[in-house]
Amino acid sequence: MQTIMVHDKLFQPYLSAAVIDEKVSAIANQINKDYEGKHPLFIAILNGSFIFASDLFKKISIEAEICFIKLASYKGTKSTGQVITAIGLDTDLFNRHVIIIEDIVDTGKTLHEFLPQLHHQHPASLKIAALLHKPAATVHHIHVDYSGFSIPNKFVVGYGLDYSGLGRNIPEIYELVD
Ligand code: IMP
Repeated sequence: MQTIMVHDKLFQPYLSAAVIDEKVSAIANQINKDYEGKHPLFIAILNGSFIFASDLFKKISIEAEICFIKLASYKGTKSTGQVITAIGLDTDLFNRHVIIIEDIVDTGKTLHEFLPQLHHQHPASLKIAALLHKPAATVHHIHVDYSGFSIPNKFVVGYGLDYSGLGRNIPEIYELVD
């Protein structure tokens, strides 16, 4: 088992690229079925979701759009709890079928802050696709409609997720070694 160092911390392999790819395909297939003829709008939350969003969107075969939103998220290995909109949403959501793409739902604070802003625009529907979910870290319950993996409350890097800026380019997901 190959461990890696990211900054000062040791991480071990957790989810392989093949396992992730299989899951992304399964989520895409389900969305392709559920949204046929609905012309959904995907909203990917930057930075962490950019690789998941890209891989997922490539597997979406129905007519669909995507846009990107940036919210403040993590500093280091603990949620800051601050959520700041850095790049605004410039698409009108009224009557649209919206699917949020998140890398990971951890405490749920980010989506808890962000979802009301979206509901305010009266989309026809609003669902969430998240590659990872840490149920044990929940502060605000968020229903994840398209969930990739439920994982233990451990810090992970790779596949778009970072530890203080590093690790996003790792094709697999690694977990922190305690
Ligand atoms: P939440 O608001 O606590 O649900 O956190 C959501 C955001 O925190 C995610 O979109 C990630 O950017 C970041 N995050 C949460 N857990 C991790 C992790 O284990 N590794 C890297 N980033 C994480």
